[in-house]
Amino acid sequence: MTIAAKDAPLIAVDDVHTYYGKSHILHGVTLHVGPGEVVGLLGRNGVGKSTTLKTIMGLVRPTEGSIQLDGAPITGMPPHKLARLGVGYVPEDRRIFRLLTVMENLRTGLDRQGVTDEKKQALLDKVFNYFPVLAERRSQAGGTLSGGEQQMLAIARAMMLEPKIILLDEPTEGLMPRMVSQISNIIDVLHKENVAILLVEQNVPLTLEASERVYIMEKGVVRHHAAARELKMNDAVIHQYLGV
Ligand SMILES: Nc1ncnc2c1ncn2[C@@H]1O[C@H](COP(=O)(O)OP(=O)(O)OP(=O)(O)O)[C@@H](O)[C@H]1O
Ligand SMILES: [Mg+2]
Repeated sequence: MTIAAKDAPLIAVDDVHTYYGKSHILHGVTLHVGPGEVVGLLGRNGVGKSTTLKTIMGLVRPTEGSIQLDGAPITGMPPHKLARLGVGYVPEDRRIFRLLTVMENLRTGLDRQGVTDEKKQALLDKVFNYFPVLAERRSQAGGTLSGGEQQMLAIARAMMLEPKIILLDEPTEGLMPRMVSQISNIIDVLHKENVAILLVEQNVPLTLEASERVYIMEKGVVRHHAAARELKMNDAVIHQYLGV
């Protein structure tokens, strides 16, 4: 059975090939994310999940294939332009500014053209409302936050740009188990805000719980695509591709 994105895709990746130097990493990746949809991207270590996100975000250029945002080509567009068009990206290493305060980190996402002071305040109020711990720690340096709080800050900063989609690379990586449920909460918040998410994860249960559809990659291609609720009942597929 084919499971289509429920609406016309917000992001459409079609037959994308990506190399690092001579190493052929993505061998024709195809996946779609609908507006406001949470889509999981699973796969073992080194299959090309992060490279898929980097290729969408314009950090590496595909040699073949196309990427579209709202039906318009964005293949090879630089990251700052994609950010302006509504594509948010939170990489594996989070890249918050460790020496800047929480507030200063958030403001880096607000200093852009066309954002009135009222709008800036409204955006800050919104994330502080969703993530009260960031409000409490607003004057604290980013580097002093716990791993889970840093992940929250990285996502909150991405929200300052009012993205249509956030590409989220292993948000639970390195977090203590009790922090992992916070990540589910953050995904719920984004979903409530109608922000689409392409969620790369190693945490299979969290991904199946948070996502509507899931793609499974193996060696640079998508091998399996299913509704999350179907995959939950398909231990054989999960074992075959993910080894869990
Ligand atoms: N900058 C790079 N230069 C050369 N090879 C790279 C580079 N980055 C990644 N690779 C290789 O590309 C392949 C895919 O890497 P990628 O980071 O996309 O995998 P991944 O699915 O995200 O893995 P993980 O689950 O470990 O994060 C790996 O074999 C990796 O060694
Ligand atoms: Mg990765």
